[in-house]
Amino acid sequence: MPTVGLVTAGGDCPGTNAAIRGVVARLDAAGWKVIGVEKGWKGLMEGKTRPLTRDSVRGIIGRGGTILGSSRLDPYVHGNGYESIRPTVEAAGIDSLVVIGGDGSLRSAAKLAEEGLKVVGIPKTIDNDIGGTDVTFGFHTAVQVVTDAIDRLTTTAEAHDRIMVVETMGRTAGWIAAYAGIAGGAEIIVVPEIPYDIEEIAERIRARHDAGRTYSLVVVAEGIPTERGFVTSGIDAFGFERLGGAGEVVAKELERLTGYEARTVTLGHLQRGGSPTAFDRVLATRMGLHAAELTLQGKSSVMVAVRGTRMTDVDILEACNEPRPLEPEVFAEAAWFFARA
Ligand code: F6P
Repeated sequence: MPTVGLVTAGGDCPGTNAAIRGVVARLDAAGWKVIGVEKGWKGLMEGKTRPLTRDSVRGIIGRGGTILGSSRLDPYVHGNGYESIRPTVEAAGIDSLVVIGGDGSLRSAAKLAEEGLKVVGIPKTIDNDIGGTDVTFGFHTAVQVVTDAIDRLTTTAEAHDRIMVVETMGRTAGWIAAYAGIAGGAEIIVVPEIPYDIEEIAERIRARHDAGRTYSLVVVAEGIPTERGFVTSGIDAFGFERLGGAGEVVAKELERLTGYEARTVTLGHLQRGGSPTAFDRVLATRMGLHAAELTLQGKSSVMVAVRGTRMTDVDILEACNEPRPLEPEVFAEAAWFFARA
């Protein structure tokens, strides 16, 4: 029976374990062997794998993180492509891969497919910025975490007459900021896709305060351009730039321009940790099962996608190359409220 290597690469994301469970349960039921790769591509580059069976994935559907671990090490960025994983692939007798990853990991999966290894991808990111699919699992959970935070921050902002700036993840996509901002009733939402004018935001806050509402909740996506450009907080262990700090820049500017006290909360990895919502568990389970089906059919270089409520598949590279910015309609709906805040 064929052997499938299962990799979870890149930033972790709630729902990943549910997807792992779906893949393993379906392949195991078909009598195929599954080899779990530890710590993302790193495990394939360093020969760290372990067998996975239906029994080893029991009880994990609601668990955050990934039971396999992850990392941002990449065979095409930090190694020499297929050659850097070939020894592990051959030693473990791996015939094909299922790669659960964000756009970076999926691009590398597509390159491996070009080099002759069969690969099926499953999109995984809280950012919701992968093309070809209506939504990615993890997004719904992240939005819920941010919404809960906004609810709490609103009451303390109100008690102290403050501007509260909440910074969300999402890299250059504003999905998390926009959805959570709308759900939490934020006064202002700033996303990378829509140009903004800090003076105009300050003016709106001043007008709001003049009208008797003495606090304002501002949601800022980490990837917005600021007067300091994109705000980063250094380079991670794998050489990738870390976004973070835009909220603080905006808060300082708003404090200076309005004279009101402003505070910042950067939610960071809280948005990625912990248990997935029921929606994400279902989506991830369905994506896992579908990826296993595609693998059983011998398909390669395809990524699982959801369109409406139906599971389908798309070319991995086409999906990764299709930009998936926040839809302007979503922002326009939020903006209708800001104008009347
Ligand atoms: O892409 C997912 C994501 O959570 C981004 O929203 C964020 O900028 C990045 O990963 C953070 O990555 P790391 O965990 O490596 O700091």
